[in-house]
Amino acid sequence: MKAPLMAIGGFANQVSRKLRQEDPNRKKLEIVVQETARLESMVKQMLDFGRPLEIQPTEISLNELVMKTVKVAEPVARKSGVELKTDLEPSLPLLLLDGPRIEQVILNLVTNAVQASPAGEHVLVRTHLESDEVLLEVADRGCGIMEEHRDNVFHPFFSTKKAGTGLGLGIVKKIVEAHGGDVSFQSNPEKGVTFSVRLPS
Ligand SMILES: Nc1ncnc2c1ncn2[C@@H]1O[C@H](COP(=O)(O)OP(=O)(O)OP(=O)(O)O)[C@@H](O)[C@H]1O
Ligand SMILES: [Mg+2]
Repeated sequence: MKAPLMAIGGFANQVSRKLRQEDPNRKKLEIVVQETARLESMVKQMLDFGRPLEIQPTEISLNELVMKTVKVAEPVARKSGVELKTDLEPSLPLLLLDGPRIEQVILNLVTNAVQASPAGEHVLVRTHLESDEVLLEVADRGCGIMEEHRDNVFHPFFSTKKAGTGLGLGIVKKIVEAHGGDVSFQSNPEKGVTFSVRLPS
C-alpha cells in the first residue's frame, strides 16, 4: 500500500509544480498530494497497530510527560476554544515508562477530549495516587459517549468522526496494557466523560 501511495503523491507533486500558480488544475493536484499524504499516514498507523508492541521503559516522571504533552496539544485546543488544565500530584514516584509511548497515550486522550468539547469548556488532566497505583485521568465536559457505542470505543477502526481512523483509543489500550496497566472510562455526573489510565508504580 505504501509504494503506490508514494508514487501517486510523488508524481502528482511533480506535475503540480510544473503548472502555473493560477492554473485551476494546480489546486486540484495539491489536494491529491495532501490527501495521499493523509492516506500514507493512516496506512502507517494501521501497520504500526498490527505489530507487537515492544516498550522501552526508563525511570521517568509522569507529571513531566503530562506537562510536555499538554504544551504540544495546547495550540490545537486553543483553536477550538477549549482550555487545557492540569492537576498534578506532586508526590508521584518515578515510574518505569516508555516516555514517547505514554506521551502518545496522553495526546490521544486529550485530543479526543478536546474534539468532544464545545468552545468555552475546559479539559482537565489529573494525576494522583491510589494505594500503590498511579492514576492518570483526562476529564472533559463534552458530548459524552452514547450507550450503544460504549462497548466499541476501544475497538480499532471504530469512529463516529468524519475524519477519524478510530485507532486513537486502540493505540492507548495497547500501550497501557504493555505497561501492565489498564484504561477505562466513566460518564461524568454533569456531562462529558473521564478516561482513567491505571499504571503500576
Ligand atoms: N472524550 C470523548 N468524548 C466522547 N466520545 C469519545 C471520547 N473519546 C472517544 N470517544 C468516542 O470513541 C470513538 C473512538 O475514539 P478513537 O480515539 O479511537 O478514534 P477517533 O478519535 O474517532 O479517531 P482517531 O483517534 O483515529 O483520530 C470516537 O470516534 C468517539 O465516538
Ligand atoms: Mg481519537
